[in-house]
Amino acid sequence: MQIELEINGSVELIDAVEGEDLAAALRRNGHTEVKCGCDGGSCGASTVLVDGDPEMACGMTAADAEGESIETVAALGTQSDLHPVQEAFVDHFAVQCGFCIPGMVLSATALLEENPDPTEEDIRAAIDDNVCRCTGYQKPVEAIQDAAGRMDTLAADGGVPGGADE
Ligand code: FES
Ligand code: FES
Repeated sequence: MQIELEINGSVELIDAVEGEDLAAALRRNGHTEVKCGCDGGSCGASTVLVDGDPEMACGMTAADAEGESIETVAALGTQSDLHPVQEAFVDHFAVQCGFCIPGMVLSATALLEENPDPTEEDIRAAIDDNVCRCTGYQKPVEAIQDAAGRMDTLAADGGVPGGADE
């Protein structure tokens, strides 16, 4: 069956098998930036934003997402124009194997959109569902604290975080 979704700002028709989860369907349709770890809703690797809220894409069917606005990490920045959250993760050495990072960056971005000045506790709560086997979480927390300041500065300058190369 075909399912219509808005993915990273563009309407797309994706192929999905009956009952297929959103993460698998997105990956099969080219969105391999969505990662699958546990495939059971417990590691956070498959986190995407659904209408702005972090959701584990393996925990919902593609059919249930019909008509929703989905953002993957590809909606944020590009390699040459990173989103402030991505830039802060790089600058703070908060990335090791990288497998959890797309989901963690999306959870952090959603937090900062809603709460531009989070406490460390807020940050730890926001990434609580994003399991990371490598970093010990301290560097990602520091990166997200720094990203909050970067996004403030960008907003004060009237800029838009990340975005496509133009
Ligand atoms: S793969 Fe979806 S939460 Fe682990
Ligand atoms: S960087 Fe390896 S799992 Fe998080």
